[in-house]
Amino acid sequence: MAPNVSERTYIMVKPDGVDRGLIGEILSRFEKRGFKLIASKLALPSKEHLEKHYADLKERSFFPDLIRYMHSGPVFCMVFEGLDAVKTGRAMLGATNPLASAPGTIRGDFALATGRNICHGSDSVENAEKEIALWFPEGTLQYKLSQAAMIYE
Ligand code: PPS
Repeated sequence: MAPNVSERTYIMVKPDGVDRGLIGEILSRFEKRGFKLIASKLALPSKEHLEKHYADLKERSFFPDLIRYMHSGPVFCMVFEGLDAVKTGRAMLGATNPLASAPGTIRGDFALATGRNICHGSDSVENAEKEIALWFPEGTLQYKLSQAAMIYE
C-alpha cells in the first residue's frame, strides 16, 4: 500500500507559546521536518469554542483551569500535512508533562509545567479531522511542494 502522505494534524501554539514568541520556532520545526503547512491563523477563541475543542475533558478536575489558561490570550492555529503527521507531530511536541518530555522535543526544550505546555497536537487521525473542521471551517489549501520528491521516496 502506498504511504499516506496526505495525513493531516492540527497543531496549536497555546497562549503561553504565543506570548513567549515561540510561534516561529514551532512552525519552523514542522516545516523543516518536511510537513506541509496547509492552513494557519492567529485566533482569540471564545470560551465556548475552547470548551468544544476540549469537550472530551469536561469531567476532568483541571478543565476550568485549562479553559482559563487557553482563554488568556491568542492562539496560533496550524494544519500540517504529511506522512504519519499525527503520530510524528505528537512525538515532536513531547510528553504532555514537559518534565517528562525528552530534550529535543518542543516541550522538552521550552516548557516546565503541564498547565503551561505551550502547544497542542491532535492525538488521533479522527480527532485531527474534527479539530481541523472546528478551527478551520473555511477549509485548508491544496497545493504541491516542489521539493516533495526530495522528502518522500
Ligand atoms: S489525560 O489525562 O490523558 O486525559 O490528559 P492528556 O491527554 O494528558 O491531556 C489532555 C489535555 O489536557 C491538558 N492537561 C492539563 N491542563 C492543565 N492542567 C492540568 N493539570 C492538565 N493536565 C492535562 C493537556 O495539556 C492536554 O491538552 P492539549 O492541548 O491536548 O495538549
